[in-house]
Amino acid sequence: KRIVILISGRGSNMEAIHRACLAEGWPASIVAVLSNKPSAAGLAWAAERGIDTVAIDHRAHADREAFDAALAEQIDRYQPDLVVLAGFMRILSAGFVRRYEGRLLNIHPSLLPSFPGLHTHQRAIDAGCKLAGATVHLVTAELDHGPIVMQAAVPVLPGDDADTLSARVLAREHVIYPRAVRWFVSDELEVQGDLVRHRHGEP
Ligand code: GRF
Repeated sequence: KRIVILISGRGSNMEAIHRACLAEGWPASIVAVLSNKPSAAGLAWAAERGIDTVAIDHRAHADREAFDAALAEQIDRYQPDLVVLAGFMRILSAGFVRRYEGRLLNIHPSLLPSFPGLHTHQRAIDAGCKLAGATVHLVTAELDHGPIVMQAAVPVLPGDDADTLSARVLAREHVIYPRAVRWFVSDELEVQGDLVRHRHGEP
């Protein structure tokens, strides 16, 4: 299976997926890493490991649709079985999502459906939540929505600020995202409407 990963920054989730892919011998490989930010640190990391990288600066395109079309053109060169959004900080147009729906995953740093959008950790703290976490989901045209594949919950501790909470959540992201991607490339995911089941009954 061919995986393309989209990033906008450091790409720590990309690294975790790449490490698991090699260590666990997945029936898949990361064939390209693309970013909307030419300066994304994750591009250098991927290039050092011989993975194709492409930077498509969203500022060089007239509008969202033009950028998304340029992005899709580059993605399609790699004929991916799966497109992984990993710290990709762009809202994708409905046309783009439709093109990849069913083979497009994202990780969001909250327990969806709570706290879609930005600043999720601060919002969880401000709301007095005792649990926070991350969600891996199939991407649909509705932002931070879509069938949930896997979640991880962490405690919100007294004295937490957004930084301490995001670090605790990120550590769990690095566990659940590789596992969710492995399930996908191993054809162990069963999507029924808005629900996703794992074939072997794992929660
Ligand atoms: C993470 O909080 C992730 O939940 C969100 O982007 C942040 C950075 O991810 N999608 P990464 O380190 O670039 O993978």
